[in-house]
Amino acid sequence: MRADLVVVGSGLFGLTVAQQAAERGLDVVVVERRDHLGGNAWSELEPETGIEVHRYGAHLFHTSNERVWRYVNRFTSFTDYRHRVWSVRAGEVYPLPINLGTINQFFRSALGPAEARDLVARQAAEIAGEPANLEEKAISLIGRPLYEAFVRGYTAKQWQTDPTRLPASVISRLPVRYTYDNRYFNDTWEGLPTDGYAAWLTRMVDHPRIDVRLETDFLEAGHPFSRDTVRGQVPVVYTGPVDRYFDHVHGALGWRTLDFAQEVLPVGDFQGAPVLNYADDDVPHTRILEFRHFHPERDYPTDRTVVVREYSRFAEPGDEPYYPVNTPTDRERLAAYRTMVEAERTRHQVAFGGRLGSYQYLDMHMAIASALRLVDNDLDDLLGRVAPRL
Ligand code: FDA
Repeated sequence: MRADLVVVGSGLFGLTVAQQAAERGLDVVVVERRDHLGGNAWSELEPETGIEVHRYGAHLFHTSNERVWRYVNRFTSFTDYRHRVWSVRAGEVYPLPINLGTINQFFRSALGPAEARDLVARQAAEIAGEPANLEEKAISLIGRPLYEAFVRGYTAKQWQTDPTRLPASVISRLPVRYTYDNRYFNDTWEGLPTDGYAAWLTRMVDHPRIDVRLETDFLEAGHPFSRDTVRGQVPVVYTGPVDRYFDHVHGALGWRTLDFAQEVLPVGDFQGAPVLNYADDDVPHTRILEFRHFHPERDYPTDRTVVVREYSRFAEPGDEPYYPVNTPTDRERLAAYRTMVEAERTRHQVAFGGRLGSYQYLDMHMAIASALRLVDNDLDDLLGRVAPRL
């Protein structure tokens, strides 16, 4: 097959670019390293129970971007799922994000919104001046008692680092709601794909002009769509890790990863909710997901359930990169890679994008919006069909 465009990576960024390019009449080859498409949004049915499990951690779709919402609805409908999370702390269960219910349960009080706001403001005033680390920043936002109860242990587990040794810049805000609203997301649209992520993602590239090559690593030689063969011959949209593309010449960028421990349990309902966070630092997992609760509308077995415990740690070579660590060293290295990205774009028609290509955490709707922008603004230029300027 001849290709007008090679897309490296079949996550939501790559799939959106491929789908849009094919719709504009281009022949597209999508090269994917894994044995399935869809990137980290992929899900599959647990074979014993038929319960849909998100293979790379819970994926909840939400957006306030109307263009993205209309776009995704071309490939799937969405359920009316609304995400809610609770936190287990010292043997009690509290609603999250921190709201009036959390505050009143924690302080054994019945405060109204204004009183609760005053209380938190008084407790937050303990930190005067610029916070020196994550702990001080969090206290300056929500006060010490709520920080120690709900943030300290969870954050220490996420980062395997005491929050006093993490930079203040790791958090910019900690939402506190002075109502009893415990919906996790504030977006206009929210839901889960009615017949699952795999069906949605597969439909995006169900097009005669799109050829998906699984188990094919663009950076390994020896196949017709490798970097060595394609570079400079066919335009490329690359959504893999930016440091790996350049053979780590400026050093590796830091990531956090997650380990997932999945179990089928012989009960119909294990925890009564899709996600429980564990705030205490003597509990090693950060949260437990129970996947049946993402689809209460489905006819799942009533005597078995699937739970996944999540553990967070720094990624080693070979681990899945999930969240950028973004230390000052990472930022320096990223700046050096960005210069190389510009040159690669000009010299070899390679555009970088997506979460790994930009070293940036992107929610699904952000990855899609960013891919649509690339197609709108850059695709013609990348293909050498520079639009006439007025
Ligand atoms: P993504 O990582 O999905 O895809 C990149 C693809 O490129 C991968 O399939 C990879 O195998 C492939 N690749 C890399 N190098 C390659 C090479 N050399 N050759 C060939 N292929 C290569 N979002 C949200 O909206 N709601 C949520 O609840 C969550 N939850 C969530 C949990 C966790 C744990 C993570 C890590 C992420 C989320 N997300 C999320 C974010 C969501 O996963 C993210 O928006 C998409 O993964 C972004 O899609 P990309 O295409 O950018 O990357």
